Amino acid sequence: MNLRHPIAAPTRLEDRLAQTQQAFDSVAADYDGPRGNNELIQRMRDTLWQTVREKLPAGARLIDLGCGTGIDAIEFARSRFHVTATDWSPRMIERTRARAEEAGVASRVDVHHLGVQELDRLEGEFDGAYSNFGPLNCAPDLRETAAQCARLIRPGGTLVFSVIGRICPWEVAHYTLRGRFRRAWVRASRGATAVGMNRHTIWTWYYLPREFYAAFAEHFSLVDYRALSLFMPPPYMVDRYRKRPSWYERLGRIDDRFGHLPVLRDMGDHFLIVMHRR
Ligand SMILES: C[S@@+](CC[C@H](N)C(=O)[O-])C[C@H]1O[C@@H](n2cnc3c(N)ncnc32)[C@H](O)[C@@H]1O
Repeated sequence: MNLRHPIAAPTRLEDRLAQTQQAFDSVAADYDGPRGNNELIQRMRDTLWQTVREKLPAGARLIDLGCGTGIDAIEFARSRFHVTATDWSPRMIERTRARAEEAGVASRVDVHHLGVQELDRLEGEFDGAYSNFGPLNCAPDLRETAAQCARLIRPGGTLVFSVIGRICPWEVAHYTLRGRFRRAWVRASRGATAVGMNRHTIWTWYYLPREFYAAFAEHFSLVDYRALSLFMPPPYMVDRYRKRPSWYERLGRIDDRFGHLPVLRDMGDHFLIVMHRR
């Protein structure tokens, strides 16, 4: 997600959800390009792919919460997982459907236009769920989403989520140096925060890993969590990365090696959290 400037003006929940939907609809057509996918995004994506494959056997039934254009859903379907792909943006859902057809894996990808606030409309029993790059930061009631995950995921099943974190040192430095002090500290906001994208508004809730886990703790035990892109800059700084890729790759390897350590794992552009259904 390429998050820009914060915008004030709180609105009703339905209006916020509609605004977030319009924001993602507006970028769906080119989301696979530079806006939504680049080397730094793919690096984080690889970590989620690897974690899902480590924690869940091929053939498992998975829910993708906020599937976007379906990059992850199609990757897992190719690896013989069965994916129920959901998203709140109808345009994103169209992209996922088309991508599954093109890849010849439509029989293993079930696509639903469904927000994370509407999971009560989904039926079935699943072995796990994943969510990549922050759809759960758009959930208006994370505890209710957790309760619905508990209804849908079998005991012993696994959740793998990448979530936008609160403490991103690169972001604070980047915007502070440009004099954009409110933007530098936007992740410190409590509650729903309006963040601009493509002249639209995404209503976003930021979390520390422990704040996020608290919503799931009643039904899920914490397996582990780690920082994503703490030493490596966030994806919107990809131009900086491209000037000295081998140097920044070294920082990426520090993330890979030490991102699970106490204190470090509470920071980063995103964090990756793994939980088990009790
Ligand atoms: C940054 S994109 C990530 C998409 C995809 N997971 C990926 O890895 O490319 C965030 C996605 O969350 C979706 N989203 C936003 N609010 C949502 C909600 N309330 N319920 C479900 N999906 C939502 C957006 O439509 C968008 O596709």
